[in-house]
Amino acid sequence: MIPDIRGQPITDVRVVDGGWPEFAGRCGELEMFVRQPTPEDNGKIIAGAQRVSAWTRERYEMRNLPTLKEDDPKHIWDWPPFQPGQTGWFFVVMVVNDAVVGFGRHHYQQGDHQAMKWYDCPAGDMVAECSLCVVDDLQGKGLGSLYGQINKLVCKTMGAKWLVGTTYTKGAMMRIRHRDGFDVTWVSDDGTQCRVRGKL
Ligand SMILES: CC(C)(COP(=O)(O)OP(=O)(O)OC[C@H]1O[C@@H](n2cnc3c(N)ncnc32)[C@H](O)[C@@H]1OP(=O)(O)O)[C@@H](O)C(=O)NCCC(=O)NCCS
Repeated sequence: MIPDIRGQPITDVRVVDGGWPEFAGRCGELEMFVRQPTPEDNGKIIAGAQRVSAWTRERYEMRNLPTLKEDDPKHIWDWPPFQPGQTGWFFVVMVVNDAVVGFGRHHYQQGDHQAMKWYDCPAGDMVAECSLCVVDDLQGKGLGSLYGQINKLVCKTMGAKWLVGTTYTKGAMMRIRHRDGFDVTWVSDDGTQCRVRGKL
């Protein structure tokens, strides 16, 4: 049973020792771990993915999906450990009580890279473009807000100076970004989507 943690203070956001950095944060009685998955996680990931609706998946993927190359791994648990300072993609899972409750996507490039042009970040700064989703039956309980704080530490640890993303102008994600003081650098013509940027 996962409690509703909305509005409770987020504490103890940290890097967990051992192996590829694992990150954690606490909110009330709930602790969330965030890490790049390994092949042993495949059962938990499949179970988590079954709790993600097509609606959520579409919002999670939005624009700027990774351009997968022929030899890129086919599963998120097969991607090699991402190293600080590296550019490119990796994926993380949110784990609570040993279950996968959400997914995150990370893309790192320098500010002047074509993929980051919308965000107006300085040319030489590393930029982390992130997207996330929480499984449908747990949305609206505060997990996305907790992940938002842990994720900033992930981005900083990987060398980013900016955290950016494309999102819907209305919805939970913008609530989280507003609270963190992100600014909007681009709005789609129909006003439904925007790109936001926050200094880490
Ligand atoms: C966006 C998402 C990750 C947020 O995670 P979450 O656990 O549901 O969010 P939280 O419960 O932490 O709520 C965050 C804030 O949004 C508000 N909120 C929650 N659901 C909302 C909704 N449907 N519409 C508007 N605001 C909403 C909450 O009240 C909270 O604001 P507050 O703290 O000021 O009260 C999650 O809802 C999700 O996976 N959505 C589908 C995928 C998606 O849209 N991803 C974003 C694209 S990058």
